[in-house]
Amino acid sequence: MKKVVAVVGTRPDAIKMAPVILELEKHPDIETLVVASGQHKEMLRQVLDTFGINEKVNFDVMKPQQSLAYITSSVLTAFDESIASIKPDMVIAQGDTTTTFVASLVAFYRGVPFAHVEAGLRTPTVDSPFPEEFNRRATALVTRLHFPPTTGAANNLLREGVLAEQIVVAGNTSIDAILDVSSRFGSITAYSSGRMVLVTTHRRENWGEPQERICRAILRLIDAHDDIHVVLPMHKNEAVRETLRMHLAKNPRVFLIEPPEYVEFTRLMSASYLILTDSGGVQEEAPSLGKPVLVLRTETERPEGIETGNAILVGTMEDAIFDEADRLLSNPNMHAAMASKNNPYGDGLAAKRIVSSIRKHFGMSHEDYPAFRS
Ligand code: UD1
Ligand code: UDP
Repeated sequence: MKKVVAVVGTRPDAIKMAPVILELEKHPDIETLVVASGQHKEMLRQVLDTFGINEKVNFDVMKPQQSLAYITSSVLTAFDESIASIKPDMVIAQGDTTTTFVASLVAFYRGVPFAHVEAGLRTPTVDSPFPEEFNRRATALVTRLHFPPTTGAANNLLREGVLAEQIVVAGNTSIDAILDVSSRFGSITAYSSGRMVLVTTHRRENWGEPQERICRAILRLIDAHDDIHVVLPMHKNEAVRETLRMHLAKNPRVFLIEPPEYVEFTRLMSASYLILTDSGGVQEEAPSLGKPVLVLRTETERPEGIETGNAILVGTMEDAIFDEADRLLSNPNMHAAMASKNNPYGDGLAAKRIVSSIRKHFGMSHEDYPAFRS
């Protein structure tokens, strides 16, 4: 019997780890223990409940306006104690959150092999996105098994000197998750008639001024197109909510809503005409739903959606956001070209590839899945 600790802390950690955890749990010769840092509270709970995942322990560290140093130090101490008592054969976590970085560091300190889901995403600048680019680069340094979602991400790792035999191109588990819940899609109760523009924004580097510019662009779009309304699920962070409320709350065609749980959010994406987002996960999901996305960032580590023509990197300047969204809302041909369904990020088999590689690492019987080709 081998013991695997699967670590989650934030909403995207849980969404992207859920397929891996559920796949691991199908194997009775592996004991799977879910450890939650509690970096997020309600937003983490929503996802764990959606997928029916019970954590063994939750450090419950979240506090309002938490600093990066606070998350790092509180999770580090709690996770170290946990690993010392569980003594796992492997620790696995996803992506670029501080929870994941800390999990990899503790695994390294304790000599436990670390497996990294969604490995190899890179921008050229270590502080953008902040602090995620640092988190994923640092995590890669101590990772034993790397599971990049795409060939491009695998190439980034090879360029950094990771050995080819440590890399399995798995596809992104976010695509497994969205395919898993697609049977539950159903319809939504529309907020208004006409076309819906779905917006999410939460990135640290967009707090304050950039988010204010995003809000101003939204108001101009509403003035320019009388058949649109904007639905904006607000991240639970008060710093983000304050800006959004201040600029948008009074407009009757803007619906500032509580973050819907994952299945409801995927329904909203399906029902939208256009998505504006600075989210990483939403950038991956939108192409698989055939929804055009304008990426509210200056850099993205997810170039694949741009290459397939589903996404445009618009940045956070008011005019650039307005101009590009205005073009899409005015030009049905441009919209149709961006709305073709594509799956550059995965094929729904990522968790199977990952668990099979873990079994291989443990010397257990396993199936061989061909690598995902993006
Ligand atoms: C974190 C991740 C980011 C990821 C995002 C997904 C880091 C450094 N950042 O950023 O990579 O894109 O999650 O959403 O790992 N809050 C609540 N309830 C919740 C969740 C958050 O009230 O359920 C509030 C708290 O006041 C908290 C604040 O949001 O202090 C910020 O949360 P934090 O995890 O520090 O940063 P995110 O912006 O959520
Ligand atoms: N999501 C959700 N409810 C929301 C907004 C997003 O369930 O109100 C899901 C979304 O489908 C995606 C993930 O959360 O899978 C993205 O999380 P977020 O944007 O918070 O983080 P990021 O991906 O940028 O790290």
